[in-house]
Amino acid sequence: MAILNILRYPDARLHKVAKPVTEFGERINKLVADMAETMYDAPGVGLAASQVDVHEQLIIVDTSETKDELRVFINPTIVWASAEKQVYDEGCLSVPGIYDGVERPAQIKVSALDASGKPFEFSADGLMAVCIQHEMDHLMGKVFVEYLSPLKRNRIKAKMLKEERGIEREAALRAAGRRH
Ligand code: NI
Repeated sequence: MAILNILRYPDARLHKVAKPVTEFGERINKLVADMAETMYDAPGVGLAASQVDVHEQLIIVDTSETKDELRVFINPTIVWASAEKQVYDEGCLSVPGIYDGVERPAQIKVSALDASGKPFEFSADGLMAVCIQHEMDHLMGKVFVEYLSPLKRNRIKAKMLKEERGIEREAALRAAGRRH
């Protein structure tokens, strides 16, 4: 297993639209294992393949306290969504440190394939419903900040770019063998 690099907003690759998974086997199993390790390490409650620069329709979620209920959704589609909405403060491993309210259907039913390619249906509400919809957005190239006002989004973008410059500067200093 390996910890994968998570793309940070506003990286343009986060806006690529993912393709369906057509082949199952070792490669998908390894991707799921690596994504799970990456998500638990972060730590986060969900991760989409898009966030690790693999543009295929695969998401993982684990909203359990004990972090032992990994769920894998491949080629997921929402087959039903409630008219009732809920607003949840969302965060994203690609937008670290930013949390804001997003309104989405409160209950959903998803149809997907598991890691072995077997179809299943799954009903979710609460945090699980939020998480699945948030991760499925990633597959469409959408990051949650796109639900926020342009003003907020631009502030977040500027903050992320500033942090990124800081990270790059530190890496350059480290590479030059200096410490500060
Ligand atoms: Ni996210």
